Amino acid sequence: MKSDGILEEIKSRLDIVEIISDYVSLKKSGQNFKGICPFHSEKTPSLVVSPHKQIFHCFGCGAGGDIAGFLMKYENLSFPESLRILAKKAGVALKDYSFKDSAEKDKIKSMQGYALGFFRENLGRAKHARQYLLERGVGEESVEGFSLGYAPKGWHGLYEMLKAKGCEDGLILQSGLVSAGAKGAYDNFRDRIMFPIFDTRGEAIAFGGRVMDDSMPKYLNSPDTMLFKKGDNLYALNAAGVEIRKKGYAIVVEGYLDAIMCHQAGFKNAVAPLGTALTGGHLKKLLRYASTVILVFDGDAAGVSAAKRSLPLIMEQGMRAKVLLLPEGKDPDSLIREKDGAAAFGRLMSAAGTPIDFLLGTSKTGKTETVREALGMISAVNDRILKEELISELSDRSRIREITLREELKKLSKGPLSAPGAARRTATYSEETLLLSAIIAFPEKAGRIADAVSPEDMKSQLLRKALAGAVSGGWEVNSLINEADEEGKALIRRLSLEPGFDPAEIDVVIEDCIGKVRRRDIDRKVKTAEASGDLALLRGLIDERKRLIGGI
Ligand code: UTP
Ligand code: MN
Repeated sequence: MKSDGILEEIKSRLDIVEIISDYVSLKKSGQNFKGICPFHSEKTPSLVVSPHKQIFHCFGCGAGGDIAGFLMKYENLSFPESLRILAKKAGVALKDYSFKDSAEKDKIKSMQGYALGFFRENLGRAKHARQYLLERGVGEESVEGFSLGYAPKGWHGLYEMLKAKGCEDGLILQSGLVSAGAKGAYDNFRDRIMFPIFDTRGEAIAFGGRVMDDSMPKYLNSPDTMLFKKGDNLYALNAAGVEIRKKGYAIVVEGYLDAIMCHQAGFKNAVAPLGTALTGGHLKKLLRYASTVILVFDGDAAGVSAAKRSLPLIMEQGMRAKVLLLPEGKDPDSLIREKDGAAAFGRLMSAAGTPIDFLLGTSKTGKTETVREALGMISAVNDRILKEELISELSDRSRIREITLREELKKLSKGPLSAPGAARRTATYSEETLLLSAIIAFPEKAGRIADAVSPEDMKSQLLRKALAGAVSGGWEVNSLINEADEEGKALIRRLSLEPGFDPAEIDVVIEDCIGKVRRRDIDRKVKTAEASGDLALLRGLIDERKRLIGGI
């Protein structure tokens, strides 16, 4: 709570529109600004930024909050971290505020930095490690560019260095670099070539380490930590980001060395997941740079099934994909290292097929099955235009009429064939939601509502709370936001930007909703009275209902 005043102070000095404009291009739309939401994939702008309320809200995916919330979500920061960045921009001193979380995260981050230096220094001393890289064709500029290193053989070198730097045991163990054994702490990475993993700001957050012989595991990766989630980070993205934006697509390969060799051969838009299958989290990161990916896989059965698993995820994000299956047993690294390999790899890449090509081309079953599989993939697509393109391509390729495909698709998809955001955007609100909206816009109307309905009969907890708060006066919508869960917060933001009624009609709307809510509650009481056989009560209720219907 101590941060509240500071946040308000910071907010009053900064303009949310200006801050968000650094990340999203915003256009004025009435009192607000609109832009393409960076938190989900869309073609038409659903992100609304209100300079007046200093909030943002996406009517497509529900993301939203204040200026600090935007930075936290976009840059994956903790609250104190984003506060600190904003404070700096606003010129507000933060010395009174204690950054417990951030201090720990910062310390763990410094440890990754210390480890990076340590591994790099050790590579300088380890002839056999440099020899290994040389044999693998990793040039000096890649060793530098990717800050490759070497973790020495001993069990405690890194641990002791971290201790000497004054790092505390508790945090050292949370860094993913060191583990606690029966005989004390020991380094996780020993006698391995080290591949640092950087965040998009270029700071090391984790490592992968490869052995130089056949021992297992071949690659060891940092575990998930406060700084690093495997499913959210891609190897080489920090180096590839600019190029991905420039080229308009990312090349997704499987391994560390595949990514490095791609860069070395001039394909500087290559990234790799970190020993996991591609996730929605990876794709969201990529979406900041481009909305097309070329998936490169080994053409063996494992590669085909990995590609099949990735495609629906890509479709779900509204991204476009091409699939390149390399000759069996080859990976980009081995291919590029062949004679004229880089050129050959480039040619293969430009011949990469669409997802439909890929599914039809790798099918081992009959045409019907394959078309069904393709329809399954298409049903994951939210983006309408993309969906249309895919249906038309599938129809051309399979020679099955579009109308037939559409019918089959309808059976497959649970909901209607529309983007989820589209339906929500034009949704008419329920009576209770409208009443809540009325209170948010006109807190002074809460008294009239509370007189007319029994607050305890309201199904919406938010409405009950808003009624209770607003009736007592001096109430602010912020207190409601603070108590709400994520869904509730999103609803309140949405209502405060798009109340769902014409303010000039507020009284009519309120009376109309009161009438509907009262009829609903009487109907419910009528049912209970019928069930219990309480005829007197029943008669009274039916009279009341008649009055209501005639009355309002
Ligand atoms: P591969 O086993 O296909 O190896 O792993 P590779 O990338 O071709 O490696 P090299 O060429 O033999 O050096 C692909 C990726 O899967 C992850 C790593 O990210 C690796 O780059 N992996 C693999 C692990 O995380 N752990 C392992 O034990 C093996
Ligand atoms: Mn390889």
